[in-house]
Amino acid sequence: MNILDGKKIANQIKEEIAVEVAQIQTRGEKVPHLAAVLVGNDGASLTYVGSKVRSCKKIGFESTLIHLPEDTTEAVLLQQVADLNANSDIDGYIVQLPLPKHIDEEKILMAVDPDKDVDGFHPTNFGKMALDMETFIPATPFGIMELLRRYDIETEGKHTVVIGRSHIVGRPISILMSQKGKAANATVTITHSRTKDLQEFTKQADIIVSALGVPDFLKATMVKEGVVIIDVGITRVPDATKERGYYITGDVDFEEVAPKASYITPVPGGVGPMTIAMLLKNTLLARKRRQD
Ligand code: GUN
Repeated sequence: MNILDGKKIANQIKEEIAVEVAQIQTRGEKVPHLAAVLVGNDGASLTYVGSKVRSCKKIGFESTLIHLPEDTTEAVLLQQVADLNANSDIDGYIVQLPLPKHIDEEKILMAVDPDKDVDGFHPTNFGKMALDMETFIPATPFGIMELLRRYDIETEGKHTVVIGRSHIVGRPISILMSQKGKAANATVTITHSRTKDLQEFTKQADIIVSALGVPDFLKATMVKEGVVIIDVGITRVPDATKERGYYITGDVDFEEVAPKASYITPVPGGVGPMTIAMLLKNTLLARKRRQD
């Protein structure tokens, strides 16, 4: 069993980006500037956005955090998005999801300028991705692809079973892994809550990408020997013995499944850090495109 060390690879990617930022600075050009909009005080979202902003500082990007109260109206958020679209200092930005229930997420994402949409969630960018055109790839699936590439995992002709059909992970990774190219050319099955007899699929899988959000869902009996496991789940499980009051766990019962796997991502330290690194990569790309 080999660990797919997302933390290590993410640090390598961040170092590569930092070198480019230093070159940009040397040339006297503007460094990339990422903004993040956070509405409300969801604990996990606060952690993710905080991490994104800290990473920006580390690699020499400028960053702006726009933290709005939970009761922010849709109209106010749309105005904020319009301001960010118009602000020439901002190269790219994200609106952290999920948004409070009274705000129509789709309406907000549609309002983001596709050229600044470093999350790759706008239909223009998502459509381009599905058509193999160059665009911003959503950071989590982009991170999974990069992890597979850097560990030279054979995917061609392999059966990849994706668990979950979210717009952020399941749907895009199923598209990307079925495309031509490195870490792709796979035969992909996408499964979800209405799939009958999920185990029949996971037991056949050469590669499993689980993006379900149910702790310890995937058990050893559900996978075959030598499987490659990508665990995208990040769930906070309440635990009074921990200082923070919770621990983080994935979709995969790691202790059970790891001995059967050829490669496996840990949680934390697997896909999570890769997501942040790829968001930064998209922001650098946004800056370069604006420069050209
Ligand atoms: N919520 C969970 N993952 C993401 C992400 O990649 N981007 C944004 N904006 N929100 C998220």
